[in-house]
Amino acid sequence: MDTILTKIEKGQPPCQEELSLLLSRPEDAVRNRLAQSARRVCEAHYGKAIYIRGLIEFTNYCKNDCYYCGIRRSNAKVARYRLTKDDILSCCAAGYTLGFRTFVLQGGEDGYYTDDRMADIVTAIRSAYPDCAITLSLGERSAASYAQLKAAGADRYLLRQETSVDRLYRHLHPPEMDGKKRLECQHTLGDLGYQLGMGFMVGAPGQTSEDLAQELLYTTKRQPQMIGIGPFIPHADTPFGGNPPGSLSQTLLCLSILRLLNPKALIPATTALGTIHPTGREQGIQAGANVVMPNLSPLAVRKQYSLYDNKICTGDEAAECLQCLGRRMESVDRHLVIDRGDALPS
Ligand code: 5AD
Ligand code: FES
Repeated sequence: MDTILTKIEKGQPPCQEELSLLLSRPEDAVRNRLAQSARRVCEAHYGKAIYIRGLIEFTNYCKNDCYYCGIRRSNAKVARYRLTKDDILSCCAAGYTLGFRTFVLQGGEDGYYTDDRMADIVTAIRSAYPDCAITLSLGERSAASYAQLKAAGADRYLLRQETSVDRLYRHLHPPEMDGKKRLECQHTLGDLGYQLGMGFMVGAPGQTSEDLAQELLYTTKRQPQMIGIGPFIPHADTPFGGNPPGSLSQTLLCLSILRLLNPKALIPATTALGTIHPTGREQGIQAGANVVMPNLSPLAVRKQYSLYDNKICTGDEAAECLQCLGRRMESVDRHLVIDRGDALPS
């Protein structure tokens, strides 16, 4: 066991068998050791700074039907909404004043936002906020679409693979969805010069330790600039509504391993982590994360962007969240910074 830990601490990926053994029965001493090493590596590169990203959830329409997701098209209980370009620009304006220098436009796969409509929105943000980074999280689109949005001024793209394991992908998604296509999209985004964010859920239904090990290694092999992971959390109105959530400790362990294997990656302590435990995000930072993503969406629509149950911060103004997060980060000896927070050169 000690050799594999030392290997990970040196940033060398172990083999899948070793890693899955580690994930299948980790001891507290192992978790603590890796968290401490991960924190040290993170601080060596990024110091005590925590980067903030203003998340704008601009549409909860989605053409897809992922079995785990609350805004899947079959969920008739969702009140659907779309934000206009002006709505989105107002979110950015409020965010800029608060100190955000990255805006993340995230939405379901919504055909209303054609390439031209989306490019128009990106162009408007780019010209109003030349000093800000624009991150898109719009799911799978064509290479031409990704290229047009990049030309319009987008810098980064978040597209979690969810899983690179074919069997698990098919367990989590309906037959018309294709895991290979998703991995291809990630390649395309990287080739186009986007800073790429990959990721997956920990404790997703049907996920084994072997799968999780494979995911950590696959993500590391691709060397993305950003890595977003969080625990699976059931949403009552989905086929997986009765499944147990992913665990806090397993998510923290994965964060630590990802940090050690990807020292310069930007890794958020996600909202899902803060949802399964009151201090989940603080613990995420202490396990190696260095980004938080508070919500800038209008209060009126927050509750409708419900990917999973009991999501936090759906009743708080962005300003309140930011103050709250600032205090939370200080409780773990870190501070929020006003900065684009680009990835360090590899
Ligand atoms: N629990 C946790 N995370 C979820 N996501 C979607 N549904 C859930 C859920 N029930 C994650 C997916 C997606 C990201 C935007 O949110 O990984 O990529
Ligand atoms: Fe939103 Fe604490 S971060 S209320």
